Amino acid sequence: MESSEKIVLLTGASGGIGKPLLEHLNGNVKVLIGSGRKNLNDFTKIKEDEKFNYMPMELNSKDNIKFLFSYIIEEYERLDVVINTVGGSLFSHPIEEFPLEEYDKIVDINLKTAFMLTKESLRYMKRNEGSGGNILHFVSSASKYISHNKAPYGIAKAGVEALIKYSAYEASKYNIRVNGISPTYVFTERHKREIQIAARNTNRSVEEIEEHIMKGQLLKRKLYPEDLFPLVDLLINTEVITGKIYDCTLGK
Ligand SMILES: NC(=O)c1ccc[n+]([C@@H]2O[C@H](COP(=O)([O-])OP(=O)(O)OC[C@H]3O[C@@H](n4cnc5c(N)ncnc54)[C@H](OP(=O)(O)O)[C@@H]3O)[C@@H](O)[C@H]2O)c1
Repeated sequence: MESSEKIVLLTGASGGIGKPLLEHLNGNVKVLIGSGRKNLNDFTKIKEDEKFNYMPMELNSKDNIKFLFSYIIEEYERLDVVINTVGGSLFSHPIEEFPLEEYDKIVDINLKTAFMLTKESLRYMKRNEGSGGNILHFVSSASKYISHNKAPYGIAKAGVEALIKYSAYEASKYNIRVNGISPTYVFTERHKREIQIAARNTNRSVEEIEEHIMKGQLLKRKLYPEDLFPLVDLLINTEVITGKIYDCTLGK
């Protein structure tokens, strides 16, 4: 099946990676459904039309996720691809001081949401006789490399890696492929702003902070959302790759 024939759901569409990805996919697939928490006009110039639908909602709720999927099936009759970019590290503390309410929020939005999205995807994609479907989750290098004060995030993303492997195993009988992209620090608009604030607060230059971020990478360059698109395109179209997580860590 060509990309141009696919019904595609992108979650986290209002995010630093999600927004440019939404703009990349828009017009290149049969129907694109984006979901984020913000209103569409607040983060992009793309307008809704017969090939693009936007659903603003919280995705930490089982009922919302069920509603989102049943709406898509009612409206478009099938779903071929789910790209999940919902997630984030949210809070930073050493484990000794990590409030459990914050731990729960991090695990919920990274792992439980990924689990619920996978569950609903399998439920509907298995109806796509023959063609199956493709599920792609965004993981993080924080699952393998220590990210200072971000233990719950690393733990949650390690869980998403396990989810990818288990769901690929179980979904193979329906010809559904499940894969992941695991980037190191991606320089999104939000991250650029955070670096500027950090520079002001710590009396360091933006360049110094950026160099520190890139320490340990073989390729001393910044990773931008657009750098990930060729891999996204591959993994939402592949009919032969499943259960794999691709490190995009510039050689780290
Ligand atoms: N950027 C990086 O350096 C990096 C590195 C490795 C992995 N990742 C992973 O890549 C993915 C995308 O990262 P990003 O930088 O684009 O993050 P981001 O800018 O924080 O965007 C996250 C997206 O998830 C949405 N979201 C958060 N909580 C939600 C909830 N409860 N219900 C529904 N939507 C919710 C956000 O909505 P709002 O716009 O309303 O907040 C936003 O659309 C994440 O899974 C992240 O962990 C990112």
